[in-house]
Amino acid sequence: MSDTPLLSVRGVHAYYGLSHVLHGVDLDVHTGQIVALLGRNGVGRSTLCKAIMAIVERQGSIRVKGRETIALAPHQMARLGLGYVPEDRAIFPGLTVEQNLILGQHSDAGPKSWTIDQVYSHFPSLERRRATDADVLSGGEKQMLAMCRALMSGPDLILVDEPTEGLAPLIVEQVGELMAEIARTGVSILLIEQKLTMAMRIADHVYVMGHGQTVFSGSPEQLRADQDTCKAWLEV
Ligand SMILES: Nc1ncnc2c1ncn2[C@@H]1O[C@H](COP(=O)(O)OP(=O)(O)OP(=O)(O)O)[C@@H](O)[C@H]1O
Ligand SMILES: [Mg+2]
Repeated sequence: MSDTPLLSVRGVHAYYGLSHVLHGVDLDVHTGQIVALLGRNGVGRSTLCKAIMAIVERQGSIRVKGRETIALAPHQMARLGLGYVPEDRAIFPGLTVEQNLILGQHSDAGPKSWTIDQVYSHFPSLERRRATDADVLSGGEKQMLAMCRALMSGPDLILVDEPTEGLAPLIVEQVGELMAEIARTGVSILLIEQKLTMAMRIADHVYVMGHGQTVFSGSPEQLRADQDTCKAWLEV
């Protein structure tokens, strides 16, 4: 196995017009890993996802499998194997579960793209809902649909922004299990989370972000032991 990270973010700055939100973020995701990015509201976690996907103005270095991508456009980032599940889940109401999945397919789908049947065989509860209007799904089911739709294009890595927001504790654990299952299929995950217990349980590596920079990098155990970081940068 090569040591080249799947995703390597170095000194990344991001801007909304004149507003300078990211101030030099460093972060790596290796093949097969679940990496959790934790931090308080407003520190720039969603902006980092958008910067990685090239949907906000960005500077610095973002390498995918060693290749510099900082000058690329969003559709090119997707073609390099990056999937994105945004905060609002972006489910299309008025379309069925299956129609939503089909919308996740790329016209130039590569060899790793999933078929609908593969998604259903991994996630049978979605198959039971295949003809249901996506709008009537529960919060947890909508999140499952949003992640599976991202899998349809065969990504190497999915960026998942706060998948458990607004979900009940039991469902949070189920969404955690779903991500662990996705990772076992060989897809890496960059998980933005507030739910520390779930994130720390499934993550291989943890970053904490504060004020537009990464302020901690280590294992879940190392973060638990680092009371200063927890007190300064997390809601604990
Ligand atoms: N479209 C935008 N235009 C201008 N400023 C923005 C925009 N989106 C976010 N910001 C600002 O950028 C900063 C970081 O926002 P971001 O959404 O990345 O934070 P976050 O860590 O994801 O927090 P949360 O999801 O809890 O809101 C905030 O100060 C926010 O007000
Ligand atoms: Mg956010």
